[in-house]
Amino acid sequence: MIKDNILVTGSSGFIGFHVCKFFLEKKIFVVGVDNHNNYYDKKLKIQRCKKLLNFKKFKFIKLDIKNQENFLKICKKFRPKVIIHLAAQPGVRYSFINPQAYIDSNITGFTNILECMKKSNLKNLIYASSSSVYGNCKKFPFKENLKLRPLNFYGQTKLMNERIAEVYNKNFNLNMIGLRLFTVYGPYGRPDMFIPKIIKNIKLNKSIDLYNNGRHIRDFTYVEDVSEIIFKLYEKIKNKKFKNEIFNICGGSKISLRKLIYLVEKMTKNKIKTKLKSFQRGDMYKTHGNNNRLMKSINKYKFTFLKNGLYKTIKTDFYNVK
Ligand SMILES: NC(=O)c1ccc[n+]([C@@H]2O[C@H](COP(=O)([O-])OP(=O)(O)OC[C@H]3O[C@@H](n4cnc5c(N)ncnc54)[C@H](O)[C@@H]3O)[C@@H](O)[C@H]2O)c1
Repeated sequence: MIKDNILVTGSSGFIGFHVCKFFLEKKIFVVGVDNHNNYYDKKLKIQRCKKLLNFKKFKFIKLDIKNQENFLKICKKFRPKVIIHLAAQPGVRYSFINPQAYIDSNITGFTNILECMKKSNLKNLIYASSSSVYGNCKKFPFKENLKLRPLNFYGQTKLMNERIAEVYNKNFNLNMIGLRLFTVYGPYGRPDMFIPKIIKNIKLNKSIDLYNNGRHIRDFTYVEDVSEIIFKLYEKIKNKKFKNEIFNICGGSKISLRKLIYLVEKMTKNKIKTKLKSFQRGDMYKTHGNNNRLMKSINKYKFTFLKNGLYKTIKTDFYNVK
């Protein structure tokens, strides 16, 4: 009989990989589920998955969460104490091109997970929402109780997740924690995101598209902090400390993309070529979160300084890209 076990969806994804690794290093049994879709290079997902398979306590199941029947079988077989749901169709710009992908994974897939929990009497879910739910909010730093105004289809599906979670909490007694993640970065990052793109383009000596003159402001959050925070929340939800909560997951410090480029230039001793582009529809001009609610719940946490997180990322990925 397995004592402590979790199920992580999106286990071959950027955040999923780091979260699985963190739990496995704590000797917790992890079942990973991922469909290895081709939103970005599959090889990176397979590479992450292979690293996880080096751990004895990792079991991988290739599955699309749209398939409720098969996901239910996994729930019944493994009966995870907590499901950490990170599988989703991410990306703001792509949500204008292929909204159906977001409905399939983020709405149908998400609802399937809750249905399977209900049908197999599993109680605890930690799921990824996003800072995108704040959209056009103008009150900085964002607090969880603001009126939400998502600016793009992706953000709308994440807001739907929070609303659906509320319904299942009230009606079926499932315990939920929603994570409003703010621009997560770190080693083995998602190739469509800004920091991995800069690193890759330096290597290839190519220029990077810089929207809005690089004046966008982001609250960058280091991926290992995200994993550790999820672990702390897992310990709480497992012990019935939460019913239905939403937390901003962010360090609460902000930086413009221009300044970020400057930092990377200094660290890599390379000049980054930029192609200036206009503001993109659906983009948020600024994300900056308030993490007081989280801090109260997990009794303080020291976030990684951007410089230190960047250093670790560059050290791993600068020599890793093709
Ligand atoms: N990275 C960030 O900065 C960020 C910010 C806010 C929210 N999030 C959310 O965090 C979660 C993880 O994001 P990420 O950056 O690691 O993205 P990612 O794309 O690297 O990881 C998602 C993983 O889920 C898998 N997946 C997608 N649809 C699936 C489906 N239908 N069935 C099974 N597997 C499926 C993908 O193959 C991928 O490996 C997502 O829910 C995302 O929306 C991420």
